[in-house]
Amino acid sequence: MTTRAVCPGSYDPVTNGHIDVITRAATLFDEVVVAILHNPAKRGTFPVQQREALLRDCIGSLPGVRVALFANTLLVDICSELGATAIVKGLRSGTDFAYELPMALMNRHLTGLETVFLPGAPAYEHVSSSLVKEVVTYGGDVSGLVPDHVLEALLQRLRRG
Ligand code: PNS
Repeated sequence: MTTRAVCPGSYDPVTNGHIDVITRAATLFDEVVVAILHNPAKRGTFPVQQREALLRDCIGSLPGVRVALFANTLLVDICSELGATAIVKGLRSGTDFAYELPMALMNRHLTGLETVFLPGAPAYEHVSSSLVKEVVTYGGDVSGLVPDHVLEALLQRLRRG
């Protein structure tokens, strides 16, 4: 039986921390769907099509991994639609666990879907999309924390003007 997992997130934008977790997930499951979930009512920093393109550019060649966009949908419904039997989330810290646990329990309550938590690489423990954007906005250097093409996109979007 093919094992299929979903790595959900906003990916606004993808960081090296995300790539680390997706790469680990790809070693555990036959197929991994990287699901960009977005609320059309919220603007975010990058348009979702650009988030998708930035993700594809860095993980598109990983065997068994694909990227898909979903709007305003319950994660458990997306997983049912995709035939996925697990959600994969990266954990950086106990704070992440405290945030993620109720969602994992709610998702299991809704459909029985399990969440697999993967400890992220310590090198990216401090890396989040929001912190990276803040640092770039105020002129800091985040090279090594995001892929080069993402850094370029961040500079274009946040440093203009
Ligand atoms: O990258 P993020 O912003 O931390 O991702 C959070 C996300 C999108 C994975 C989470 O908000 C989510 O699962 N949203 C889908 C709506 C849903 O199913 N909500 C109930 C969760 S128990």
